Amino acid sequence: MPVAHNVSADAVGLENLSICLALRRAVFVDEQGVDPALDADGLDDGATQFLAWANGVPIGTARLRIADGTAKAERVAVLDDFRGRGVGLALMNAVEASARAQGHRSVLVHAQQAVVPFYERLGYTATEDAFDEAGIPHRRMRKCL
Ligand SMILES: CC(C)(COP(=O)(O)OP(=O)(O)OC[C@H]1O[C@@H](n2cnc3c(N)ncnc32)[C@H](O)[C@@H]1OP(=O)(O)O)[C@@H](O)C(=O)NCCC(=O)NCCS
Repeated sequence: MPVAHNVSADAVGLENLSICLALRRAVFVDEQGVDPALDADGLDDGATQFLAWANGVPIGTARLRIADGTAKAERVAVLDDFRGRGVGLALMNAVEASARAQGHRSVLVHAQQAVVPFYERLGYTATEDAFDEAGIPHRRMRKCL
């Protein structure tokens, strides 16, 4: 699926963190019922934040966090009304480009079981059995850049 022509995604400064958190709250807390304290885990200041936009309106977010030397894509979220238009793809392209620019050769995700096919479509491979995170089954997946 190509990214829709009016969609863009890029890294943003921490002055935009409140927008990222609002999008995450809408998707993870309000839609999926995740504990807000688990979503806002205090690790955002040390991460690179990303926003996706449609016609200048923020519609998706993600963050890239380096943990123990590993590049991790986290908090990947697209507002329900805007899914299926390549927004998640645009976000992950931006995250991977940033990881590559920082010298990383792979990106790790803890993928919700339900969206494993999304990450597979982007070239990620599940490495282990499912495990629980925030009450939701997840798979650890990795992509070589
Ligand atoms: C997962 C999520 C980020 C995908 O975003 P999206 O903008 O809908 O994805 P895209 O439109 O960029 O899809 C890219 C490709 O993945 C596929 N895809 C996306 N979601 C999928 C799903 N749930 N199951 C199977 N395939 C999926 C698309 O069909 C597309 O493939 P194609 O190019 O062959 O047509 C979005 O559904 C979301 O925010 N979900 C709720 C939060 C969540 O679960 N986040 C992941 C946390 S690990």
